[in-house]
Amino acid sequence: MCGITGYIGKNNNAIKVVMDGLESLEYRGYDSAGIAFIENKNLNIIKEKGKIANLKENINFDIQSNLAIGHTRWATHGEPNKVNSHPHSSGKFTIVHNGIIENYLELKEELLNNGYEFQSSTDTEVAVAYINYLYEKDNNILSVLNKVNDIFRGSYAFGIICLDDLDNLYALRKTSPLIIAKGDNENYIASDVPAILKYTNKYILLDDFEIAKIDEDNITVYDKNLKEINKEVLEFEGSLESSMKGGYDHFMLKEIHEEPTVFKNTIDTYLDTDFKNIPDLSKYNKIHIVGCGSAYHAGLIGKYLIEKLANIPVLVDIASEYRYNKVFYDEKTLVILISQSGETADTLAVLRKVKEDNIDTLSIVNVVGSSIARESKYVMYTKAGCEIAVATTKAYLAQLTTLIILTMYLTNNKELIDEINNMPTLLEEMINIDYKNIALSIYENKDIFFIGRSIDYALCMEGSLKLKEISYINSSAYQAGELKHGTISLVEKDTPVISISTNESLLEKTISNTKEVKSRGAKVIFVTNNDIDGDFYDYKILVPKVSELLQPILTIVPLQILAYEVAKLNGCDIDKPRNLAKSVTVE
Ligand code: AGP
Repeated sequence: MCGITGYIGKNNNAIKVVMDGLESLEYRGYDSAGIAFIENKNLNIIKEKGKIANLKENINFDIQSNLAIGHTRWATHGEPNKVNSHPHSSGKFTIVHNGIIENYLELKEELLNNGYEFQSSTDTEVAVAYINYLYEKDNNILSVLNKVNDIFRGSYAFGIICLDDLDNLYALRKTSPLIIAKGDNENYIASDVPAILKYTNKYILLDDFEIAKIDEDNITVYDKNLKEINKEVLEFEGSLESSMKGGYDHFMLKEIHEEPTVFKNTIDTYLDTDFKNIPDLSKYNKIHIVGCGSAYHAGLIGKYLIEKLANIPVLVDIASEYRYNKVFYDEKTLVILISQSGETADTLAVLRKVKEDNIDTLSIVNVVGSSIARESKYVMYTKAGCEIAVATTKAYLAQLTTLIILTMYLTNNKELIDEINNMPTLLEEMINIDYKNIALSIYENKDIFFIGRSIDYALCMEGSLKLKEISYINSSAYQAGELKHGTISLVEKDTPVISISTNESLLEKTISNTKEVKSRGAKVIFVTNNDIDGDFYDYKILVPKVSELLQPILTIVPLQILAYEVAKLNGCDIDKPRNLAKSVTVE
């Protein structure tokens, strides 16, 4: 996700401090960077696509400045390029932004009708123009920023410079994190602690709707009534490295903990616009879903949901197979490509192949402006933010969420809104369960099997991949009904078998299959949304029961965390497993 830094003071050069901060936020992932600084009361903005190194090449660090803001951009609206990168400026204001302004299109309409013009396709440029638009009428910075809190919907953390008040740096936030750090005759803003640790470890956490007015000596925070409030000054204890993970031991765990927000951000992107940002798909009577690894596993879930609820036949295949197999499609077939990175070579090759046959394509992608997103006819972005860990968790969950939205759209089903609104809470509950004791009982095993039927089998495949790729334990997923056709020969005393059953109509049969392995000595972990008890399992993980459409979102969480805990017990390099890359751009 985007990174924000800012500085006001005289002890250091604002340009150097802000650039140091951006470099400390590189772990958040980004595709462009920029800085705005004041020199002799003049505003300078320098921004570049790509790495911070590109930006540094264009900066003269001999320039003295006491006020600057900087930004690393993780594109959410508009291609990753120079014009879309931050800071953005309009009239007296220059801002950097982390978050998504969901009502930016209606704000842009109002501004266009009032003579504003735009260079970029970002929500951020609309935000700064709207701030300036309010200021032209109100002429009071604090009151304008307070109005912003009422008018802007979505999420934001803003660092703000106003040419009419260069003695202060302003900041405000809603949902997106922002800290204000305290130095000696100098103060800082940042998205996260790493950006300021080189200079200070004292900071305050700005809360939603609070506005900060910061000069070199004072940090004044105002509440929604523009009343000054006292904020506790916190002290960060810990290394820079640990702070980049938000205090979690690994990025993978941090990203799992982000899943409730990711689910909400992804769902809101489509529900808030009443599905208007989904293309008309009514002409298609057949769907092919193609991806690799976890993206393929997400496609399997999509198949079950779309076929069962939207009654449209769906073929799912692994990209490296699909591109060479004989496939049957026509102008009424929609090929859906799923890819977190949007750069996976095999998936991109399928996209280009089917386009040559004039087949329509829709991609479900996390990285804005990536090759697969740019070259597809339609794209539905997932809002997982930047995913650092090689083993995908939150991005996979965002893919499931997008496939759920697609199914709701195809079935014109909006009855689930209340249940959807409760999902982040249920996700938090599943994430906060302690799975360590179960991990302790299986982490020394050399083989661990997953069994399930129908949609639960697709979850088994993802759970098994997570375990394999980060703990290096051999694991396979089997259709529960298949065991007696051969694979049950692999089961011996204490072989861990993770049995998943969340489909009421298949519960009995899956329990029978589970008893088959239990009777041969298996150590059974039973993952279910049913409160049934029995002696056919050693551990039970109870998942809240929700509509069939939403159930996979909750069931996958214990599988992700169990894999994480097992890998941790094995001392594996969880965020960077051996032999793996985050984006496989080779065939
Ligand atoms: C999943 O944990 C793996 N990192 C891998 O299977 C990944 O899902 C696959 O390489 C596809 O990547 P993509 O989503 O970026 O296309």
